[in-house]
Amino acid sequence: MKNIRAPIITICGHVDHGKTSILDSLRGTCIAKTEAGNITQKISFSLITKEIIQQKIGDLLIKDKIKLDIPGFLLIDTPGHAAFTNLRKRGGSLADLAVLVIDINDGIKPQTAEVIQILKKNKTPFIIALNKIDNISGWQSKKDGDVGIKENIETQPEKVKQVFNERYLTLIGSLNSYGFEADLFYNVTDFSKNIALIPTSAETKEGIPELIMMLCGLSQRYLGDRLKLGEDPKGVALEIKKSKAGNFIEAILHDGVLSKNDEIAIANIDFETGEGEPIISKIRVLEEIQPLSEKFLPVEKAGASTGIRMQLKEKVEILPGMPFVKFKGNNEEVKKIFEKEISESVTKVLSKQGIIAKADSLGSLEALLNLLGQANVPVVKAGIGVINKSDIISAKANLDINELDSIIVGFNVSTAEDAKELSKAYSKIKILEDDVVYKLIENLKEFRENKQKEIEKKRLMELSSICKLEILHKYVFRNSNPAIFGVKILGGKIVSRQNLINSKGEKVGRLKNIQSENKSVETAEKDMEVAISIPGVNFERVLKEEKVLFSEISGKQFKTFKKNKDLLSGDEIKTLQEIAEIKRKENNDWGA
Ligand code: GTP
Ligand code: MG
Repeated sequence: MKNIRAPIITICGHVDHGKTSILDSLRGTCIAKTEAGNITQKISFSLITKEIIQQKIGDLLIKDKIKLDIPGFLLIDTPGHAAFTNLRKRGGSLADLAVLVIDINDGIKPQTAEVIQILKKNKTPFIIALNKIDNISGWQSKKDGDVGIKENIETQPEKVKQVFNERYLTLIGSLNSYGFEADLFYNVTDFSKNIALIPTSAETKEGIPELIMMLCGLSQRYLGDRLKLGEDPKGVALEIKKSKAGNFIEAILHDGVLSKNDEIAIANIDFETGEGEPIISKIRVLEEIQPLSEKFLPVEKAGASTGIRMQLKEKVEILPGMPFVKFKGNNEEVKKIFEKEISESVTKVLSKQGIIAKADSLGSLEALLNLLGQANVPVVKAGIGVINKSDIISAKANLDINELDSIIVGFNVSTAEDAKELSKAYSKIKILEDDVVYKLIENLKEFRENKQKEIEKKRLMELSSICKLEILHKYVFRNSNPAIFGVKILGGKIVSRQNLINSKGEKVGRLKNIQSENKSVETAEKDMEVAISIPGVNFERVLKEEKVLFSEISGKQFKTFKKNKDLLSGDEIKTLQEIAEIKRKENNDWGA
């Protein structure tokens, strides 16, 4: 069985739960300890060959009568869900299998939940490494003997067993709520129906042989046709590294065999038109990742699945996440394939009006657009890369159409300095950034809801203002032409040009000017004390006996206010009721 490719296995999970450490123990190195601050910053891959697997767990394979057909694994470590969504392939995930790492003492955390949702959506089979079992208080490590993890757990002190049982049963319960049945791997009989939990410690290596074993078994039993090596080399460019020696493209080759003499076509799409000429270039240097190492070495050929680095003959700009294929002079065909692939998930989902969406790669952009679609948020413009000046200009154009759309969301991207500078001139443009896509969507929804209310309220208040004023008889500055006197706002707010009535519903006059601390203002809010002027009124004659004034509201306006009362504050509603009572003394049907 030669024509089988290595399954691609992603290690994913919440920050610090031990993804890199698990990967380290799978390959017997010590990467996590050399990472800056122990934080994984970028996607990295490692190759584990069949020979290495045999060396590591040969005995287990014999015991379980497993004959290895796969050439090995390509393991991918991710710095979190954002990079994890980058690993996309048409119609789903690039990963054939995933190991979801969960700290047994910590349980399901936000990123765990997010990963579970992505795995579910992409229908990626996965197993769970229930990691850091050695941190359970009282745990007795059995790292030296050949004790399997099952026996290991069974022979732990009662108290440890109790804690272990409690924690894994809680986890099973939580997984249930996501629609997954799960159990400890040695209790599972049908792995296509149940998610297997493998208790592990990346620290003591307990459970690690069983984890490798499960990956072998599941790959061979359930991936079947998916692992058939295709004729044509296909891959995804993950990152573009610029260096003095030239630009290197780090990529995953997920199908076929790529040769150094091949010419490749990389997708390149203009997001506005959905069209684009693929980038065609010969390969100048082809390098492949070395087993158990982070080093790349030049090769003549590389066979899937593997991690590669390419330097191209042509100097080209490519975007992260773009698919590539071997080019066979079939320009039109390649162009169509790419256009279809990208238009389905990106350009076709764009609307005539909407917000602006940016992400760090094609995969994350697609994930973002998909979720925005689910949230019914239209998108007018999408792109890969930092939020730039052109995005601000687009958002600015949206301001004139619909303020709700003058929003830019950035998934795992930041805002360029000059764009930040430009956006300062337009306070109404909102930029939302996050590297957790679900958080980004939540924040966006909340922002849009509040904005919508604000806009509606503004429109509502243009009808008339709702206000109740107490006349401050101590402060009558002028009796007439115009009358000027102090008021305190008891409810709602006043705006200039508002008509006022007294407590009997009689028209008093039109408010002309509002002064607060000797300055003219357009409005004054509840509890403020201001001076107002009303032309055509003689204070002595008309207002001397009055205690309060109200804004004049028509019956029709009252009905509109009533319909939108969720936009009004408590004191506005109360004031509105008082005005209605006054009006209804004259006319019982007022505002009905
Ligand atoms: P990010 O890449 O930042 O998301 O973290 P990660 O999930 O790759 O976690 P990493 O492997 O860097 O481990 C985080 C910390 O937990 C490190 O200090 C590890 O040494 C420690 N750790 C990981 N696995 C275990 C384990 O099984 N037992 C114990 N005791 N510590 C562990
Ligand atoms: Mg890590």
